[in-house]
Amino acid sequence: MKGKPVIYPVNMTATYKFESSDDLIDVVQNRTGYIYSRWDNPSIMEVEKEMAALEGYDHAAAFSSGMAAITTSVFSHMKSGDRILSTREVYGGTYELFTKVLPNMGIEVVMVNCWDIEKLTSEIEKGIDVLYLESPTNPLLRVMDVAPLVKLAHAKGATVMLDSTFASPVNQHPVDLGVDVTIHSATKFIGGHHDITGGFTCSNEKSFWKIWDYRKILGGVMDPMTGFLAQRGLKTLDIRMERQNNNAMEIALFLEAHPSINSVHYPGLESHPDHEVAKRTLKGYGGMMSFEVNSDFNGTKSVMDRLKVIKLATSLGGVTSLANQPITNTHASLSPEDRKKAGVAENLVRLSVGIEPVATLIDDLAQALKI
Ligand SMILES: Cc1ncc(COP(=O)(O)O)c(C=O)c1O
Repeated sequence: MKGKPVIYPVNMTATYKFESSDDLIDVVQNRTGYIYSRWDNPSIMEVEKEMAALEGYDHAAAFSSGMAAITTSVFSHMKSGDRILSTREVYGGTYELFTKVLPNMGIEVVMVNCWDIEKLTSEIEKGIDVLYLESPTNPLLRVMDVAPLVKLAHAKGATVMLDSTFASPVNQHPVDLGVDVTIHSATKFIGGHHDITGGFTCSNEKSFWKIWDYRKILGGVMDPMTGFLAQRGLKTLDIRMERQNNNAMEIALFLEAHPSINSVHYPGLESHPDHEVAKRTLKGYGGMMSFEVNSDFNGTKSVMDRLKVIKLATSLGGVTSLANQPITNTHASLSPEDRKKAGVAENLVRLSVGIEPVATLIDDLAQALKI
């Protein structure tokens, strides 16, 4: 038949058949084809190729969630007795991995605030195996000057991992900053429609094979249907990000001037402590922001409850705008001291800006903020 599908087919198969035992043995021993979808699947390899190209690495690996991408990356690069240095401002699940799981495996975990460059530098100098970063951060949108830290970490022989979920592959290129393993929760901007759970790592050859091997063992591979939806998400990522970047900037300026708002955390604002770093290292300021309402916990909760267009929900990065109070969900498991250290106040709202007309979003915020 002439003509081929424009869209790569979804290969809904768990296993693969062979013409001969020799072929099967060759695939198992030399990975010259497909054997089992927990190892590899054509649909998954197709979206991995696109992700690797987008982030500028040789390889990408697709996972069943962002957390599967994070745990598999860390486990595949660490063993008992090793030392990991992480910034404190990481996603809640990552924080739990570092504080509850890794110490039980004999791995030393050191956590330092992302803005404390002096302490980060001195901990790297002591010797580390992995430097783990997340930038921009959740929920205060701190943006790190990554490249100098990568240089120091590499001089100590460490592998550098960076969770770039908040930036998406459009707004930040960690490969240009020297990062070895770039991590994304595909649940967010990549999927883009709040309908998949997935993750990616993008890396050089050496890290990829470590990650691939551990993915096979731990089993957190992406399924083909999710791979198809992630690939579809990538087709519109660029224009969605352009709209989300623009919408967010307008909303940040509106909120900054609003009498019911105490402060706005958005790297595109000149008032943001990392605006200069963001200007230099990001290609767009992103669709995420947070702000403090001039009220207490209950007053802020009422603002949330009055939103009509913006949905009260956790997660982020999709076409629909979402808002929540981090203290009630994403940061609920943190102790009051840790919450204070993370800058998560009771009146803090996190907003994920979607692609709706910006005037509609501003009208919704304006009516909800009449306090
Ligand atoms: C920055 C960041 N990294 C990782 C994750 C985990 O991703 P997933 O929920 O797909 O496991 C999240 C989830 O919110 C996140 O915000």
